[in-house]
Parts: sequence; C-alpha cells; structure tokens
Amino acid sequence: MSIKIESVFVSFIKLNIIRLFAKINIHSPDTFTNMSFPNNLVRTYNQNDKNPLLSYLKGQKASQTGNTFLQKIMEKGLQKPGYSVEKDLFLAWEKGRIVGWMNVFFESHIQRAVLSGYSRTTKNSADSLLELSIERAGELEAKKVHVYLPEKNNEARKFFINHGFVPVRTFLEMTIDFSKTPESANNISGPYDNHFKPGEEEQLAGLQNICFEGSWDFNPNTTEDIRFWLALTGTKIEDVIVEKKAKEFLGYCWNHLVLPDVKKASKKKGRIYMVGVHPAHRGLGIGKKLVRSGLSLLKAKDVQLVGLTVDETNVAGKALYASLGFSLNSRNLWFEKHLKD
Ligand SMILES: CC(C)(COP(=O)(O)OP(=O)(O)OC[C@H]1O[C@@H](n2cnc3c(N)ncnc32)[C@H](O)[C@@H]1OP(=O)(O)O)[C@@H](O)C(=O)NCCC(=O)NCCS
Repeated sequence: MSIKIESVFVSFIKLNIIRLFAKINIHSPDTFTNMSFPNNLVRTYNQNDKNPLLSYLKGQKASQTGNTFLQKIMEKGLQKPGYSVEKDLFLAWEKGRIVGWMNVFFESHIQRAVLSGYSRTTKNSADSLLELSIERAGELEAKKVHVYLPEKNNEARKFFINHGFVPVRTFLEMTIDFSKTPESANNISGPYDNHFKPGEEEQLAGLQNICFEGSWDFNPNTTEDIRFWLALTGTKIEDVIVEKKAKEFLGYCWNHLVLPDVKKASKKKGRIYMVGVHPAHRGLGIGKKLVRSGLSLLKAKDVQLVGLTVDETNVAGKALYASLGFSLNSRNLWFEKHLKD
C-alpha cells in the first residue's frame, strides 16, 4: 500500500504558525517499502539536499503554497528564530529521489510544535516522516503537536488519527470575490494612508501581542519573528496598515498578495492575514475601517479574490468579516497529539 499526502502550507501569522493541509490518497498494492529499496529513507535535511529539494519543490503545484514557502526559505536562506533546517526539516527519499518532507516549527512560549509538509510516499515513509517529526518535537520539549487539515480530507484525518491525533479546534476560511460581489468592492474605499514604516517592526510585534493575548494557542511574536514572516510572505511593512492616535498604535491590518499559480490561469488572490485592535479601543469601528483599507489596498493591486482565516469561536472576528461581505468558503480542523504535561 502506498500513501500520498498533499499539503498546502499556509502561513497564519496571528498564531505564528505554518499550517498543514494534508490530503492523503491511499493506493494499493504496496509496491515500494523501506525494506525493498535500500535507498528509501527518511532523514533530516543537509546542505547537499538543497538542489534536489529545490527541484522537487519547483515540480509541485504552486498552489501548494507550503512548497512555495519552503522554497523561499531554501532560496533566500531565511532564518526563523529557533528553527534549523538541519534539525527540523525531514525528507523522505524513495529510489534516490525526494518524495516528501515534513517541517517542525516549535513555538517555545506555548511549548507546541506545528507540523507541516507535503509528500507522495509509501506508507512507511509517510509514517516515518511523522514519527521522526514527533520525536523532534519531543526533543524540543514540546508538550503537544498540531497539524491543520481541511475538514473534508478524510484520508488525512484517518492518517493522523491513527497516529494518536484528535481534533481540537475548527477554523473557517472566508473569502470575498470582488468580481461576484461588486457591491462589496464598491464598499471598500476606506483610506489607507497610515502604514507601518521600516524600523517599526518592534511596534508591530508589540501591538500584535497585545491584540492577540488570550487567543487560542497564540505564541507571542518577537521583532525577529515579524521580520521573518514579512520576508516569508513577501509583505513590505509599508503594506501593513495601522490606525494611530498621536503616537499610540491602536490597531493594524496585515494583508498581502498571494503568489500566483503559474500553471493555471486563476484569479489574482490576496489575503488578510491578521487584523487586531487594541482591547481598549474595540467596538468603535476601527477593525472595520482597517479591513476596508486592507481590501482597498489589495484591490488597487488588481486582486480579485481575498481570503482569510478565523477561529470558529471568534465572535467579533466573524462579525467583522461578515459585515464586510466575506462568506464561508471551507472549514479546517486543528488536530492535536498530546506529548507530555
Ligand atoms: C476582531 C476585532 C479586530 C474587531 O475590531 P473592532 O474595532 O472591535 O471591530 P469594529 O468596532 O470595527 O466592529 C466591526 C463589526 O463587527 C461587529 N463586532 C465587533 N465586535 C463584536 C463582538 N464582540 N461581538 C459581536 N459583534 C462584534 C461590530 O458590531 C461591527 O459590525 P457592524 O458594522 O455590522 O455593526 C477585535 O475584536 C480584535 O482585535 N480581536 C482580537 C484579534 C482578532 O481576533 N482578530 C481577528 C481574527 S484574525
């Protein structure tokens, strides 16, 4: 039996994570196993793997943005604080070729590790990728491991449940399509003349940490984390809109363009990554003004489809997005494996 895990890596900076969307297709019979081919193995990345890994990633669909992000990390040599490709990235090889990978992103403040990956491997290799990643999470003193899966992906669910994962949270993917809802598009001409400036990464980190304190599994970001995520998502800090009163930062909206899928003609996409309003200034229309401005900025870049993710239990967030015309597109589940207390 062979197993295919397709994953889409989506950065969701609010929680300082990269998330896994895994789709597993199971084929039979099992033609390739670790036992039958001595050059089938799963191991950590080393510098000699750079070129084979890059060609492997380039051969994947660009819409699998997990591959795109990993590609960016490799090409640009981006450094995520606390993350090491040599220790935290596992590669599966079959018949001398890379067939999959899995990443372990550890969040020290909340002692969790978020796994992400993509693979088209034999079942043994898929199992090994996951087992080695969980072992690594344990070495890092993670108390739990999380993966993020589309609700409809039964095969992936089965795979992770078989490895001891249980669903713990539902997040919603909401979208707005300007071409289908022109009235929404006309309703977004909010001003966006306030931006963060280069050098204000520390203020952005501080504001974000205040806004999201108490949110489910939020790992506070450092200034270095913010720099990493800006670089990874290709966002210029100037494109992060801010609401200010004198020198006080009251709220922000971080939006960005999604890399186009070069293999198929599709609508130009953007994302609202994070919106936060200082707790002392909520309920005054600031969040709505900021998201309007974010949409306006994306529209000015010819974006047609805007997506975002929100926790199903986030009443204020859902109300805010619905009030601007966003509607539910899909549901995704967080799965957890508890490691220790
Ligand atoms: C979500 C958040 C950004 C809203 O900001 P805000 O400035 O308080 O929101 P606004 O005052 O602009 O309200 C926008 C809309 O949401 C509704 N809303 C806001 N807070 C609400 C609440 N607690 N319950 C129900 N509806 C709420 C408002 O009624 C308004 O809708 P309307 O225009 O149809 O009346 C803010 O609560 C926040 O920062 N939360 C923590 C971070 C977060 O969860 N971000 C979003 C998820 S990624």
